Amino acid sequence: VSAKPSSGAGLTFKPIPPNHLDTVIVPNGYEDKVLIRWGDPILPGAPEFDIDRQSASAQARQFGYNNDYLVVVPLDRRLSRGLLVVNHEYTNEELMFRGYPGGAAATVEQMRVALQAHGMSVVEVERVDGTGEWQVVTRGRRRYNRRLTATTPMSFTGPAAGSPLLRTQADPRGVRVLGSLNNCSGGLTPWGTVLSGEENFNQYFVGAEGAPAAAKPALARYGIDISKRYPSGSRYWDKADARFDLTKNPNEANRFGWIMEVDPYDPDSTPVKHTALGRFKHEGAAVVVADSGKVVAYMGDDERFDYMYKFVSDRTLSSGNSKSDRESNRHLLESGTLYVAKLGFTSASEIDGSGKLPSDGAFNGTGRWIPLTRGGKSLIAGMAIDEVLVHTRLAADRAGATKMDRPEDIEVSKVYVALTNNSNRGTAGQAPADEAAPRNSNKHGQVLELIEDGDHDSETFKWSLPIVCGDPADPSTYFAGYDKTKVSPISCPDNLDFDAHGNLWISTDGNALTDPSGTNYHDGLFAVAVEGEDRGKVKQFLSVPRGAEQASAAVLPDNRSVVVSVQHPGEITGATVDKPASTWPDGDFARPAVIVTWRPDGGEIGA
Ligand code: FEO
Ligand code: CA
Ligand code: CA
Ligand code: CA
Repeated sequence: VSAKPSSGAGLTFKPIPPNHLDTVIVPNGYEDKVLIRWGDPILPGAPEFDIDRQSASAQARQFGYNNDYLVVVPLDRRLSRGLLVVNHEYTNEELMFRGYPGGAAATVEQMRVALQAHGMSVVEVERVDGTGEWQVVTRGRRRYNRRLTATTPMSFTGPAAGSPLLRTQADPRGVRVLGSLNNCSGGLTPWGTVLSGEENFNQYFVGAEGAPAAAKPALARYGIDISKRYPSGSRYWDKADARFDLTKNPNEANRFGWIMEVDPYDPDSTPVKHTALGRFKHEGAAVVVADSGKVVAYMGDDERFDYMYKFVSDRTLSSGNSKSDRESNRHLLESGTLYVAKLGFTSASEIDGSGKLPSDGAFNGTGRWIPLTRGGKSLIAGMAIDEVLVHTRLAADRAGATKMDRPEDIEVSKVYVALTNNSNRGTAGQAPADEAAPRNSNKHGQVLELIEDGDHDSETFKWSLPIVCGDPADPSTYFAGYDKTKVSPISCPDNLDFDAHGNLWISTDGNALTDPSGTNYHDGLFAVAVEGEDRGKVKQFLSVPRGAEQASAAVLPDNRSVVVSVQHPGEITGATVDKPASTWPDGDFARPAVIVTWRPDGGEIGA
């Protein structure tokens, strides 16, 4: 995250072609293997996975479903041992249970298994023989191994903790919540904890049609269907736990949609949800320390036409590693200023929605961070501080923030934002194309580069679009001016990471490119230089199996391994356990898994 932007150093690998093979493809000279998959035992007493004998108590001790964000934090100076920390975003019940009847007919035990398949896993891992290969530690005490699920107790911090908007029958003080849901992307903090974004939490709740009228506009703004008791695709979790019924517990939905922080080094610690960072469909949070010592978190709200946010802490980082430093840093995200981005454009009148480059040769402009809160007080007229933090989308609407094309992951050297796509851009009644979202019905997305005026706690910035994704033969694409005949096609950027040279690594979700017969190419992992003469030279590094999303990748700090999250293989309409669309990784039914890729010759990732 702190690497200097690079000139493309180290990216000499031969790109793989776009393909639709039901396996993981890596470049010549690389090896890959499954590190851990859904159901693998991680806690003491966990049974081996058996798809025909699942139980909530087994799943609570096994690796969860649909791994997304991941990071490896070190357990020693040489990084020979580490903790793999992984989000489990959501469940595909039809791919988890044989003969799954769906919706209301699901058994309560199936619902309880799904609740335990959400959350996070912390797993001890170790390097194999000093190489870039890694394996899960399967012997000894493994005292750090941990599962967080949809029922793990967590507490709220910050200005909205205890707010009436967070109070429920089970928690009349509004300070304690059970579980985390839809943990999508995340971030590592400089003090060694892991942040996790609660994204599409709306899908778990039912009964909003019976919620109090006063609560309905906010529920609707967060994507909860207020027109019927059971929206389509409902999991009917109210039958397993009444807190998912908004008729009975209208505030329960307000207790999800936060940034959660967990200390992987302390398996007994209580995870916290930080209200100061606002509530929306949090993709993740990229944390960086400004020269002032204040901690800055960049965050995206992944929804068509939603916003980009930034949090700046009131207090400064304690740079030591003593217990008291760590304890002090643990509270950094509890108070600060929450901003939303408003962009200015340099060529606004030339944008026609086709993606045609303006005459100044760049999609670019200026920008302003509009504060929504400061010093524990609301800056939005008519909204109290807890309303701004719990209903942040409504506050940002009033502040006049810029509607964006699904802000997904953000990573910082300069600041990069993956804007994944926006099929509704420019359609009837919706925001038209603008310079930062230059294509109507945007299928392929773009990457935005943001440079603060001064330091990360600045209130103004400049931005540009170095990459407008798609098939390079499509004139609406842009690769920072690089020769388009020499770049890989790329579609739907979702997650970002940097290697040790500062090259940007882009994971994709929802590749909308097809081969000549109309078959979709699979998602993948791409590397691109962001400085120097190779800026914009996108190269495909890896592709994932059928129906899978390339959800997240982490190039380890020694640049010898990349750990990759293969999410929802086989997620194709109509596919089931017995009629799988993908048989990866074991040849029978599909299982989400984390893989590791390395060079057996000891070379660097990217070479
Ligand atoms: Fe879970 Fe926005 O991807
Ligand atoms: Ca321009
Ligand atoms: Ca994502
Ligand atoms: Ca996504």
